[in-house]
Amino acid sequence: MTAALYDSVIADFYDASPVVVSRQKDVVFYRDAARRYGGPVLELGCGTGRITMAIAEAGQQITGLDNSEKMLQRATQKVAVLHPEQRQRVTLLSGDMRRFAIDQQFQSIIIPFRPFQHLLPVPEQLDCLGCVRQHLALGGKLIMDFFQTDAARMHDPQFLKEHFIAEYEMPGGRKVRLSERIAAFHRAEQCNDVEMAFEVTGADGSTTRNVFASRFEADAGRRHAAASRTREPANLRRFRIPDYSGGRRAGIASTSRRLR
Ligand SMILES: C[S@@+](CC[C@H](N)C(=O)[O-])C[C@H]1O[C@@H](n2cnc3c(N)ncnc32)[C@H](O)[C@@H]1O
Repeated sequence: MTAALYDSVIADFYDASPVVVSRQKDVVFYRDAARRYGGPVLELGCGTGRITMAIAEAGQQITGLDNSEKMLQRATQKVAVLHPEQRQRVTLLSGDMRRFAIDQQFQSIIIPFRPFQHLLPVPEQLDCLGCVRQHLALGGKLIMDFFQTDAARMHDPQFLKEHFIAEYEMPGGRKVRLSERIAAFHRAEQCNDVEMAFEVTGADGSTTRNVFASRFEADAGRRHAAASRTREPANLRRFRIPDYSGGRRAGIASTSRRLR
């Protein structure tokens, strides 16, 4: 389901999107973490390799795994233009983070920009954490981030109307207008059905509109909601959680404050 969403449209518009372009602090955060905790690094949900390349450029061996072929194609194109010394540090794998078996142990396993929140049922989260445990070297670290949404996004009818998210130009001149609406709130499950509409205007002025629906985790904005949902399965898999940092809205950065 998620792979279909990324394959069908998101991959094409991902890297140029202002939502993605403006995310720089997390690149620094994960690159610094990889330096601190060491390689080899396994990145789950590596997508187009936004973080993968930065870590390879910083000198670490990194394996990126994703289940969207189109996102991986973009990553492969980026690997091809790396310096040869950096290129040999990157391995890209097609696979599912809920069930993977790689014949290697990793010092660091990272899940940047919320792929874990695509795993909505707790058993799927546990499957992923189980695989992570099998692939972590002794003393290795799992590092991931979550988003905290507004409580209003769980109930306010204004979000049921389509609203503007971003407008941008792609290399080659196509213009993209991204809008979104919540089609259904699932408050008890802390999920929303979200429709994303990509309106693309070509150089000849013709416009196409593609609407995609998916279910996303949308924690109710309570400060530790996402964390508690994750801490619970993490504890069940007997991970020790030595650090938990962040802040509302700011996104993860090396300077994020510590939360308890
Ligand atoms: C928001 S993107 C983040 C991509 C990348 N980590 C980044 O920071 O730009 C989420 C990624 O998770 C991947 N993903 C979602 N569910 C997955 C699964 N079960 N197994 C592997 N990858 C998955 C998607 O294909 C997508 O590339």
